[in-house]
Amino acid sequence: MKVLNCYSLKGGVGKTSTAINLGAVAAVQGWRVLLIDIDAQGASSFLLRHDSQDGKGLGDQLKKPQANLVELVKGTNVERLHILPYNDRTRFLDAEISEIRTFRSRARNSIDALSDRYDLIVIDSPPTADNLLKFQLAVSDLTLLLTTPAPLSLRATLEYVYSLRGDFKSPPNFKTTLQIVEVRSKHHQELLSELSEMKDLHLTNTIIPRSSLIEGMAIDRSPVVISHPRSIVAKRFESLWIELDLMD
Ligand SMILES: Nc1ncnc2c1ncn2[C@@H]1O[C@H](COP(=O)(O)OP(=O)(O)O)[C@@H](O)[C@H]1O
Ligand SMILES: [Mg+2]
Repeated sequence: MKVLNCYSLKGGVGKTSTAINLGAVAAVQGWRVLLIDIDAQGASSFLLRHDSQDGKGLGDQLKKPQANLVELVKGTNVERLHILPYNDRTRFLDAEISEIRTFRSRARNSIDALSDRYDLIVIDSPPTADNLLKFQLAVSDLTLLLTTPAPLSLRATLEYVYSLRGDFKSPPNFKTTLQIVEVRSKHHQELLSELSEMKDLHLTNTIIPRSSLIEGMAIDRSPVVISHPRSIVAKRFESLWIELDLMD
């Protein structure tokens, strides 16, 4: 089982859109996928039609020594793609995990316990830099930093994430993908070549172009790789999935 963390310190850079579509690509290819929504906006829960959730949340489970995340999982309209939706009680998660030492191993165990049911866990992250991020980095095999082509905000995010590396026995793995790229924009083209020089970014060759189909996901409430599988943007998510190379 692999854990992919879709992260940025910034909001509105395409974390949720990428998390859902990569999860759906993997599911179509036969992977059993669980998307965990830990963003208070609950966007991926909404897009996968699980926006009104009562009852227990992630924080309730992780407080227990033997957390059972399976109890919180729901199916989606995509075969093999499940979701652990955001709910109001997840809001307390960051405070609840402030005792980070025991929490990290507990979180790791609760994620590991999913390995007989899932081949891939995708985390849809909030744009925050707190205990939750430490949780995400602790449980992830790969953190995919999403960013629009804006070098300064990108640098700030990357530097922040690197500064956390000291907290881990082995440094977290990163790749960076540019999202919402205007492929015809000269400005974006120039930024792209500038960014590809910044080796620390581990920039993927695949970029995700701006596409109105992605905005349409809020109406279809379905990943674009499912609703428009032949579209350019769907093909890009497929290439990105291959490039992330999470297969053993
Ligand atoms: N490639 C894209 N093309 C056009 N719009 C996009 C693209 N990716 C994301 N968006 C739109 O940008 C907004 C923010 O995207 P989202 O994935 O929710 O970002 P985040 O999770 O980082 O806040 C949403 O309205 C979404 O529809
Ligand atoms: Mg989001």
